[in-house]
Amino acid sequence: MDRFRIRGGKPLRGEVRVARAKNAVLPLLAAALLSEDTCVIEDVPFLDDVVTMLKLLESIGVSVEMKGRTIKISAAGRLNPEAPYDIVRKMRASYYVLGPLLARFGDCRVSLPGGCAIGPRPVDLHLKGITALGARVKIEKGYIHARARSLRGNTMMLEGQKGPSVGATINTMMAAVLARGETVIEGAACEPEVVDVAQFLSKMGADITGAGTPTITIRGVKELRGARHKPIPDRIEAGTFAAAAAITRGRVEIIGCEPRHLTAVITKLQESGVRVEAGVDRLLVEARGRPQAVKISTAPYPGFPTDLQAQFTALLSIAQGTSTVTENIFESRFLHCLELNRMGALIDITGNMAVIHGVERLEGAQVMASDLRASAALVLAGLAARGQTEILRIYHLDRGYERLENKLKPLGADIRRVSS
Ligand code: UD1
Repeated sequence: MDRFRIRGGKPLRGEVRVARAKNAVLPLLAAALLSEDTCVIEDVPFLDDVVTMLKLLESIGVSVEMKGRTIKISAAGRLNPEAPYDIVRKMRASYYVLGPLLARFGDCRVSLPGGCAIGPRPVDLHLKGITALGARVKIEKGYIHARARSLRGNTMMLEGQKGPSVGATINTMMAAVLARGETVIEGAACEPEVVDVAQFLSKMGADITGAGTPTITIRGVKELRGARHKPIPDRIEAGTFAAAAAITRGRVEIIGCEPRHLTAVITKLQESGVRVEAGVDRLLVEARGRPQAVKISTAPYPGFPTDLQAQFTALLSIAQGTSTVTENIFESRFLHCLELNRMGALIDITGNMAVIHGVERLEGAQVMASDLRASAALVLAGLAARGQTEILRIYHLDRGYERLENKLKPLGADIRRVSS
């Protein structure tokens, strides 16, 4: 298992380019199942989660061809519409094959994902969506077995107690594109990734309006054709670099990003005294001293993303004053706080709120990554800390960041991957 060794205290300076969004790429790859024609996804990041999705598609019988960062997917012929536990347990987003497989074959089995380090991750809204379209769903031996002779459009409310679901919105949208008649998804997630998938489906011939708003209308079509698509930039990777610039008191220009997807994040950085200048596809982030304490509350888009909560908790651990971070999406997503405290942070957790008493400096330590974004938070803490930090279990990080160390080194970071 690889680990990172970081010698902290060096301000990051320079330019860094963000990759395309993992959370758009994964459903886009699954959407290719909806057509017998070849689909092409361009500029795909080399991520473990992408590899897992491609393995899943291959196990279904799809032909996958990868040339550099371009992936060609051809889901023609006889396929085996099943997502086995062995793959789903590695990556929850495997559930994205549920909607397309059901729409195309009328019968599929997808393993239930089970537990997750950031708390319960139910799939009731995914099932609500496909059931509303006429699917019969049974849970058998740890698998979702969904069947429908033909899907029928319907109007449904997909918002759950924690708000809208990105996954359920995309899954239901992918199932509805081939359903008979009109589907209206109320309480839909508005995340940019939902819009990106809707755009790809539209290129394939789907009839979708309202993506990016809480009401999405889909008029079913008979079949979809192949299409070519370049996913949106990764707003979470961009936000991670912004936090890295701020925590190291550096000056970093983040290029190839979509600043309009990061409004809530930019607002919080500016509130904390960090200079941020946004261009069309770039962000300049510069910090001269410690940030000021701020209050952050995670929320569905366009609110502050839960996927940047851990990174900003790391940043606020060295703020002047006491900050609070309230996690409203995944309530127990706080394991990184215990590791940050081992590095000298002073964070108390009460319920779904972290109270962060800012300290002057963090101290290097050996810490353990618990999930993808928690790993990123520990890297940021290590970059800012005095002395050496060693981060174990960085396989979590490789799921969603492409060789993060290779992007940080040119900015002046002293970070090394150690394989054992
Ligand atoms: C996606 C992202 C993840 C991000 C999350 C929230 C991918 C691959 N992952 O995950 O990185 O943190 O959005 O922005 O894109 N919920 C239910 N029932 C369901 C589904 C969800 O109650 O059937 C709840 C969840 O527990 C959570 C909330 O709804 O509290 C939002 O989750 P959701 O948007 O579905 O997250 P994912 O799509 O799994």
